Amino acid sequence: MTAANPGAVARSRPELVELLRSDIEAAGKITFARFMEQALTHPQYGYYTAGDAEPGFEGDFLTAPETHPVFGAVLARQLAECWERLDRPTPFVVREHGAGSGSLALTILAGLREERPDVLAAIRYELGDVNDRRVAAGLSRATEVGFGDHVAAAGHDPIIGVILANELLDALPVHRLVVGNQEIREAFVCWRDGWFAEESGPVSDVRLMDPLIDLPLMAGQRLEVSPAASAWTTRVCAEITRGYAILIDYGYEAVELYDPLVRPDGLLRTYWQHIAGDDPFDRVG
Ligand SMILES: C[S@@+](CC[C@H](N)C(=O)[O-])C[C@H]1O[C@@H](n2cnc3c(N)ncnc32)[C@H](O)[C@@H]1O
Repeated sequence: MTAANPGAVARSRPELVELLRSDIEAAGKITFARFMEQALTHPQYGYYTAGDAEPGFEGDFLTAPETHPVFGAVLARQLAECWERLDRPTPFVVREHGAGSGSLALTILAGLREERPDVLAAIRYELGDVNDRRVAAGLSRATEVGFGDHVAAAGHDPIIGVILANELLDALPVHRLVVGNQEIREAFVCWRDGWFAEESGPVSDVRLMDPLIDLPLMAGQRLEVSPAASAWTTRVCAEITRGYAILIDYGYEAVELYDPLVRPDGLLRTYWQHIAGDDPFDRVG
């Protein structure tokens, strides 16, 4: 196999590359969202699902709960306020999505044990993640430190409580768009000279452009849109009978996010051993 970037072949997960390549060959080209979804969460070979990828100093990137327990302690106070506002339900369900192996859960539960044992007594803290092994690890970590009676794997039944996610929305697939003089086009993924490459074409779904209506875009500008993030939010929030959703991530209002002068190339980033990069076709998986 000869590639435009030969090192990228060796640095990528071969089974995943093969799978994506045959997807592309069957369809001619695929959306970047499809590429990203497979690369991150393919059941066997995805970055989050196959390996031991975990935020932390030893991993590829760091998240707030891994950095310091104060993040969980602050959220514990916020959850206590939610519990009060909901008239102190029991069980008070906190359903965390993208929970990994439970670092945020453990710091929240520890914060409640310290400051609000009344809330801890009512809480059923549910851990959900695309990686079931992580959830199992989180549940046993919680049990080891005495929270076994308060934790469970996330379900889909209606809840009174809080849906919580930290740095999950950012991991959901995005479509990449390119603004032209006359029209907006989509940047697809094709297979060229033995490796992944970009190929532009008409947008795969005109609704992708809905978030861009009335925004001052500029020819040449590149940007990302994520219908998957909107669909995910609608779906999980539909599980709330009474309660709140606390979804924490980096972001801006659309007018800032898509400001062509500030972010002409969009915001897609890769991370490897804490080094940010901008080539999604390197280290695939
Ligand atoms: C950036 S990490 C954040 C982990 C944790 N919330 C934190 O703040 O440390 C993203 C997490 O979301 C999970 N994830 C990615 N895509 C997902 C999806 N579609 N559904 C559920 N979890 C997902 C990953 O396995 C990973 O644990």
